[in-house]
Amino acid sequence: MAKMTIQKLKNMKVKKEKISMTTAYDYPTASFVDKAGIEIILVGDSLAMTIMGLDSTVPVTMEQMIHHTKAVVKGAPTPLIVGDLPFGSYNVSKEQAIINSNRLMKEGGCDVVKLEGGLEVAHIVKAIVDSGTPVMGHIGLTPQTVSKLGGFKVQGKSLEAAKKILDDAKALEEAGAFALILECIPENIGKLVTDKVSIPTIGIGGGRLCDGQVLVFHDMLGLFEKFVPKFVKKYAELGVEIVDGLEKFKEEVKAGSFPSDEHVFKGISEEELERLY
Ligand code: KIV
Repeated sequence: MAKMTIQKLKNMKVKKEKISMTTAYDYPTASFVDKAGIEIILVGDSLAMTIMGLDSTVPVTMEQMIHHTKAVVKGAPTPLIVGDLPFGSYNVSKEQAIINSNRLMKEGGCDVVKLEGGLEVAHIVKAIVDSGTPVMGHIGLTPQTVSKLGGFKVQGKSLEAAKKILDDAKALEEAGAFALILECIPENIGKLVTDKVSIPTIGIGGGRLCDGQVLVFHDMLGLFEKFVPKFVKKYAELGVEIVDGLEKFKEEVKAGSFPSDEHVFKGISEEELERLY
Protein backbone atom coordinates (compact mmCIF):
# COMPACT_ATOMS: atom_id res chain seq x y z
CA MET A 1 0.00 0.00 0.00
CA ALA A 2 1.20 3.53 -0.78
CA LYS A 3 2.03 5.86 2.11
CA MET A 4 -0.83 8.12 3.24
CA THR A 5 -0.22 11.82 2.66
CA ILE A 6 -1.80 15.12 3.67
CA GLN A 7 -2.84 15.71 0.05
CA LYS A 8 -4.66 12.35 -0.08
CA LEU A 9 -6.52 13.26 3.12
CA LYS A 10 -7.56 16.60 1.65
CA ASN A 11 -8.82 14.79 -1.48
CA MET A 12 -10.80 12.41 0.74
CA LYS A 13 -12.64 15.40 2.23
CA VAL A 14 -13.42 16.72 -1.24
CA LYS A 15 -14.68 13.30 -2.38
CA LYS A 16 -16.58 12.84 0.92
CA GLU A 17 -14.65 9.64 1.68
CA LYS A 18 -14.53 9.16 5.44
CA ILE A 19 -11.11 9.11 7.14
CA SER A 20 -10.27 6.54 9.85
CA MET A 21 -7.71 7.17 12.58
CA THR A 22 -6.70 5.45 15.82
CA THR A 23 -3.97 5.86 18.35
CA ALA A 24 -1.05 3.45 18.70
CA TYR A 25 1.84 3.62 21.11
CA ASP A 26 4.18 0.75 20.20
CA TYR A 27 5.40 -1.55 17.42
CA PRO A 28 2.80 -4.35 17.66
CA THR A 29 -0.26 -2.10 17.98
CA ALA A 30 1.00 0.10 15.13
CA SER A 31 1.46 -2.93 12.88
CA PHE A 32 -2.12 -4.08 13.61
CA VAL A 33 -3.44 -0.61 12.70
CA ASP A 34 -1.36 -0.64 9.51
CA LYS A 35 -2.67 -4.13 8.56
CA ALA A 36 -6.25 -2.90 9.08
CA GLY A 37 -5.68 -0.17 6.48
CA ILE A 38 -6.48 2.73 8.85
CA GLU A 39 -5.34 5.98 7.24
CA ILE A 40 -3.87 7.87 10.24
CA ILE A 41 -2.12 6.82 13.45
CA LEU A 42 -1.87 9.26 16.33
CA VAL A 43 0.88 8.58 18.83
CA GLY A 44 -1.27 10.34 21.38
CA ASP A 45 -0.27 11.69 24.76
CA SER A 46 -3.27 9.62 25.92
CA LEU A 47 -0.52 7.07 26.51
CA ALA A 48 -0.31 8.78 29.92
CA MET A 49 -3.53 6.97 30.83
CA THR A 50 -3.49 3.89 28.60
CA ILE A 51 0.17 2.91 28.96
CA MET A 52 1.42 4.68 32.09
CA GLY A 53 -1.72 4.49 34.25
CA LEU A 54 -1.67 8.23 35.07
CA ASP A 55 -4.78 10.33 35.70
CA SER A 56 -3.96 13.05 33.17
CA THR A 57 -1.85 13.71 30.07
CA VAL A 58 -0.05 16.67 31.70
CA PRO A 59 3.06 14.84 33.01
CA VAL A 60 4.03 13.30 29.65
CA THR A 61 7.48 14.39 28.45
CA MET A 62 9.05 14.92 25.03
CA GLU A 63 11.39 11.97 25.71
CA GLN A 64 8.41 9.66 26.30
CA MET A 65 6.65 10.88 23.14
CA ILE A 66 9.81 10.39 21.06
CA HIS A 67 10.35 6.90 22.51
CA HIS A 68 6.81 5.75 21.62
CA THR A 69 6.76 7.52 18.24
CA LYS A 70 9.93 5.68 17.15
CA ALA A 71 8.32 2.30 17.88
CA VAL A 72 5.09 3.21 16.05
CA VAL A 73 6.97 4.43 12.98
CA LYS A 74 8.80 1.07 12.81
CA GLY A 75 5.51 -0.84 12.94
CA ALA A 76 3.40 1.16 10.49
CA PRO A 77 4.92 2.17 7.16
CA THR A 78 1.62 3.08 5.45
CA PRO A 79 -0.56 5.35 7.65
CA LEU A 80 0.25 9.02 8.20
CA ILE A 81 1.94 9.12 11.63
CA VAL A 82 0.97 12.04 13.86
CA GLY A 83 3.25 12.78 16.82
CA ASP A 84 1.49 14.50 19.72
CA LEU A 85 3.30 17.47 21.28
CA PRO A 86 2.90 17.04 25.06
CA PHE A 87 1.77 19.74 27.50
CA GLY A 88 4.51 22.29 28.14
CA SER A 89 6.38 21.56 24.92
CA TYR A 90 4.87 24.40 22.84
CA ASN A 91 3.35 26.96 25.22
CA VAL A 92 6.49 28.96 26.10
CA SER A 93 7.43 30.48 22.74
CA LYS A 94 7.36 29.89 18.98
CA GLU A 95 11.05 28.92 19.19
CA GLN A 96 10.34 26.28 21.86
CA ALA A 97 7.46 24.89 19.77
CA ILE A 98 9.65 24.67 16.64
CA ILE A 99 12.51 23.02 18.54
CA ASN A 100 10.18 20.37 19.98
CA SER A 101 8.37 19.77 16.67
CA ASN A 102 11.76 19.28 15.05
CA ARG A 103 12.68 16.75 17.77
CA LEU A 104 9.47 14.76 17.31
CA MET A 105 10.00 14.67 13.54
CA LYS A 106 13.79 14.02 13.55
CA GLU A 107 14.13 11.74 16.60
CA GLY A 108 10.65 10.19 16.63
CA GLY A 109 10.30 9.94 12.86
CA CYS A 110 6.63 11.02 12.64
CA ASP A 111 5.21 12.67 9.50
CA VAL A 112 3.39 15.56 11.20
CA VAL A 113 2.72 16.88 14.72
CA LYS A 114 -0.46 17.66 16.64
CA LEU A 115 -1.08 20.23 19.34
CA GLU A 116 -4.08 21.35 21.37
CA GLY A 117 -5.81 24.72 21.41
CA GLY A 118 -7.50 27.27 19.15
CA LEU A 119 -7.06 31.00 18.59
CA GLU A 120 -4.57 31.26 21.45
CA VAL A 121 -2.12 28.86 19.76
CA ALA A 122 -2.72 29.92 16.13
CA HIS A 123 0.54 31.92 16.08
CA ILE A 124 2.42 28.82 17.31
CA VAL A 125 0.78 26.65 14.64
CA LYS A 126 1.79 29.17 11.97
CA ALA A 127 5.38 29.25 13.24
CA ILE A 128 5.67 25.43 13.18
CA VAL A 129 4.08 25.18 9.72
CA ASP A 130 6.37 27.96 8.41
CA SER A 131 9.34 26.04 9.82
CA GLY A 132 8.43 23.08 7.60
CA THR A 133 6.38 20.77 9.83
CA PRO A 134 2.71 20.10 9.08
CA VAL A 135 0.38 20.57 12.07
CA MET A 136 -2.91 18.92 13.02
CA GLY A 137 -5.03 21.05 15.35
CA HIS A 138 -7.16 19.78 18.26
CA ILE A 139 -10.11 21.79 19.61
CA GLY A 140 -13.27 21.30 21.67
CA LEU A 141 -12.31 19.26 24.72
CA THR A 142 -8.54 19.60 25.02
CA PRO A 143 -7.33 17.11 27.67
CA GLN A 144 -4.03 18.93 28.32
CA THR A 145 -5.92 21.97 29.65
CA VAL A 146 -8.80 20.10 31.22
CA SER A 147 -8.45 21.91 34.55
CA LYS A 148 -8.98 25.23 32.74
CA LEU A 149 -12.10 23.75 31.08
CA GLY A 150 -13.47 22.55 34.42
CA GLY A 151 -13.27 18.82 33.74
CA PHE A 152 -13.87 16.25 31.00
CA LYS A 153 -17.16 17.61 29.66
CA VAL A 154 -18.85 18.38 26.35
CA GLN A 155 -17.71 21.73 24.94
CA GLY A 156 -19.57 24.23 22.74
CA LYS A 157 -23.03 23.79 24.24
CA SER A 158 -24.00 27.48 24.36
CA LEU A 159 -24.18 29.81 21.33
CA GLU A 160 -21.15 31.72 22.60
CA ALA A 161 -19.15 28.53 23.21
CA ALA A 162 -20.13 27.16 19.79
CA LYS A 163 -18.97 30.41 18.13
CA LYS A 164 -15.65 30.13 19.98
CA ILE A 165 -15.14 26.62 18.56
CA LEU A 166 -15.88 27.87 15.04
CA ASP A 167 -13.51 30.83 15.52
CA ASP A 168 -10.82 28.44 16.82
CA ALA A 169 -11.26 26.17 13.78
CA LYS A 170 -11.01 29.09 11.34
CA ALA A 171 -7.96 30.52 13.11
CA LEU A 172 -6.16 27.16 12.92
CA GLU A 173 -7.07 26.74 9.24
CA GLU A 174 -5.81 30.26 8.57
CA ALA A 175 -2.59 29.47 10.46
CA GLY A 176 -1.95 26.55 8.12
CA ALA A 177 -3.16 23.48 10.07
CA PHE A 178 -3.83 20.63 7.59
CA ALA A 179 -6.58 18.93 9.66
CA LEU A 180 -8.49 19.33 12.93
CA ILE A 181 -9.46 16.96 15.74
CA LEU A 182 -12.88 17.91 17.14
CA GLU A 183 -13.26 16.39 20.58
CA CYS A 184 -16.42 16.12 22.63
CA ILE A 185 -18.69 18.70 21.00
CA PRO A 186 -22.37 18.51 19.96
CA GLU A 187 -22.98 16.82 16.62
CA ASN A 188 -24.40 19.98 15.01
CA ILE A 189 -21.27 21.97 15.94
CA GLY A 190 -19.12 19.18 14.46
CA LYS A 191 -21.11 19.58 11.23
CA LEU A 192 -20.89 23.39 11.33
CA VAL A 193 -17.09 23.32 11.63
CA THR A 194 -16.80 20.58 8.99
CA ASP A 195 -18.90 22.68 6.57
CA LYS A 196 -17.04 25.91 7.32
CA VAL A 197 -13.41 24.79 6.94
CA SER A 198 -11.71 23.36 3.87
CA ILE A 199 -9.40 21.07 5.85
CA PRO A 200 -10.49 17.59 7.07
CA THR A 201 -12.13 17.36 10.50
CA ILE A 202 -11.71 14.19 12.53
CA GLY A 203 -14.19 13.69 15.35
CA ILE A 204 -13.80 11.98 18.70
CA GLY A 205 -17.18 12.59 20.22
CA GLY A 206 -17.67 15.19 17.47
CA GLY A 207 -20.70 13.53 15.89
CA ARG A 208 -21.34 11.60 12.69
CA LEU A 209 -20.81 14.44 10.23
CA CYS A 210 -17.09 15.07 10.64
CA ASP A 211 -14.84 14.07 7.72
CA GLY A 212 -13.40 11.24 9.78
CA GLN A 213 -13.39 9.55 13.17
CA VAL A 214 -10.65 8.77 15.67
CA LEU A 215 -10.75 6.47 18.68
CA VAL A 216 -8.14 5.56 21.27
CA PHE A 217 -6.86 2.01 20.51
CA HIS A 218 -7.13 0.83 24.11
CA ASP A 219 -10.69 2.20 24.52
CA MET A 220 -12.13 0.71 21.32
CA LEU A 221 -10.58 -2.73 21.81
CA GLY A 222 -11.35 -3.19 25.49
CA LEU A 223 -7.83 -2.74 26.83
CA PHE A 224 -8.56 0.17 29.16
CA GLU A 225 -11.12 -0.37 31.87
CA LYS A 226 -10.82 2.67 34.18
CA PHE A 227 -13.56 4.59 32.35
CA VAL A 228 -15.26 4.46 28.95
CA PRO A 229 -16.47 7.81 27.52
CA LYS A 230 -19.92 7.94 25.84
CA PHE A 231 -18.36 8.45 22.39
CA VAL A 232 -16.40 5.18 22.53
CA LYS A 233 -17.70 2.08 20.75
CA LYS A 234 -16.01 -1.15 21.81
CA TYR A 235 -15.11 -3.24 18.76
CA ALA A 236 -13.46 -6.04 20.77
CA GLU A 237 -12.92 -7.17 24.36
CA LEU A 238 -9.22 -7.92 24.18
CA GLY A 239 -8.73 -7.35 27.90
CA VAL A 240 -11.09 -10.26 28.66
CA GLU A 241 -9.27 -12.50 26.15
CA ILE A 242 -5.89 -11.56 27.62
CA VAL A 243 -6.95 -12.43 31.18
CA ASP A 244 -8.48 -15.71 29.88
CA GLY A 245 -5.21 -16.63 28.20
CA LEU A 246 -3.16 -15.74 31.27
CA GLU A 247 -5.44 -17.76 33.55
CA LYS A 248 -5.16 -20.81 31.28
CA PHE A 249 -1.35 -20.43 31.29
CA LYS A 250 -1.32 -20.25 35.10
CA GLU A 251 -3.58 -23.34 35.43
CA GLU A 252 -1.41 -25.37 33.05
CA VAL A 253 1.80 -24.34 34.85
CA LYS A 254 0.31 -25.37 38.20
CA ALA A 255 -1.00 -28.65 36.73
CA GLY A 256 2.31 -29.39 34.99
CA SER A 257 0.61 -29.67 31.59
CA PHE A 258 2.66 -26.80 30.16
CA PRO A 259 5.17 -27.18 28.62
CA SER A 260 4.11 -30.32 26.74
CA ASP A 261 6.28 -32.44 24.43
CA GLU A 262 5.98 -30.02 21.49
CA HIS A 263 7.45 -27.13 23.49
CA VAL A 264 10.63 -28.81 24.82
CA PHE A 265 14.09 -29.37 23.31
CA LYS A 266 15.73 -32.81 22.92
CA GLY A 267 19.45 -33.33 23.61
CA ILE A 268 21.72 -36.19 24.60
CA SER A 269 20.34 -39.69 25.31
CA GLU A 270 19.22 -40.80 28.77
CA GLU A 271 22.29 -43.15 29.01
CA GLU A 272 24.72 -40.29 28.33
CA LEU A 273 22.82 -38.07 30.72
CA GLU A 274 23.25 -40.72 33.46
CA ARG A 275 27.02 -40.01 33.39
CA LEU A 276 26.46 -36.43 34.45
CA TYR A 277 24.58 -37.38 37.64
O1 KIV B 1 -3.84 11.77 22.80
C1 KIV B 1 -4.82 11.34 22.19
O2 KIV B 1 -5.08 10.12 22.12
C2 KIV B 1 -5.70 12.30 21.55
C3 KIV B 1 -7.00 11.79 21.03
C4 KIV B 1 -8.00 11.86 22.12
C5 KIV B 1 -7.45 12.50 19.80
O3 KIV B 1 -5.39 13.45 21.48
